[in-house]
Amino acid sequence: EISHSDEWSVRVSFLESYSEAKTTASKFEGMISPLSIAIFQSLFAFHKANDVTGDLIEFGVFRGKSASVLLRNLNSGETAYLVDVVGCPDFARPDAISGQYEFIKGKGNTFSVSDAFAKSVPASFRLSHHDGSHRFNNVIAEMTFMETRLAPRGIVILDDFLNPAYMQVVAASFNYLATRSSGLEFLPYSNNKAYLCHKEDFDFYSRFIIEKLLSDINSAEFDCMLARSDNHPVYRAFSLYPKNRPGLPDFYGTDFLGDKYYRLG
Ligand SMILES: C[S@@+](CC[C@H](N)C(=O)[O-])C[C@H]1O[C@@H](n2cnc3c(N)ncnc32)[C@H](O)[C@@H]1O
Repeated sequence: EISHSDEWSVRVSFLESYSEAKTTASKFEGMISPLSIAIFQSLFAFHKANDVTGDLIEFGVFRGKSASVLLRNLNSGETAYLVDVVGCPDFARPDAISGQYEFIKGKGNTFSVSDAFAKSVPASFRLSHHDGSHRFNNVIAEMTFMETRLAPRGIVILDDFLNPAYMQVVAASFNYLATRSSGLEFLPYSNNKAYLCHKEDFDFYSRFIIEKLLSDINSAEFDCMLARSDNHPVYRAFSLYPKNRPGLPDFYGTDFLGDKYYRLG
């Protein structure tokens, strides 16, 4: 049983960790937005509370902004594998957050077919962030790679999902799930990124999304809502996005659909 004061201290520690992660990330050039930093921090706090551990991997590092968020969430004994075709420009700055990383220079899409790479990284990861080339074949190759390497309760994050300039990310990821007998499925979409998990972990993470993620995000500087308007076995994911006007409900559609899509099984 979690007491009110425990819940309060967990919330305060989320807000502190988000604020610190955002401040650190602001010192790096790059793309990850404050909302995605908040989502990552809420997810990492949930991992910590539930003893979800393991290494992290990022494809597409650029100058280390999103990697700075991964690095600050490493537990002792864990490593972040940072993969980019271009060399990491400033090793001193990631080192100031954590020395527990390995930078790997090369193309993410060639790795799924490379025995050398397979041997050089661990067999399981609890989180991967895919922000490299975003070409159709690249998305397929990296998802193929992660399918066999995602730890139980692990999360795969595809960037530039629904970016109109990179719609092949959507096409490739749905194609992958539909044609490869994949054990992965979409969990939420939010802020340019799609999050996937093992099918058997969907309920575990649904509880987190409904009960914790939205309230964490809205306790920070955001006013977001959660949407879900179907529960089909092929697609039952959530979306989390900023309300387009204040005062809208936190859960989309409850006024005309009821709460059936937000009830926990
Ligand atoms: C959008 S940036 C990454 C931004 C970073 N994740 C952030 O949020 O700050 C894309 C990076 O992917 C790298 N890249 C492009 N193609 C790649 C590939 N096939 N494999 C790995 N990295 C790739 C580029 O060199 C570039 O640094």
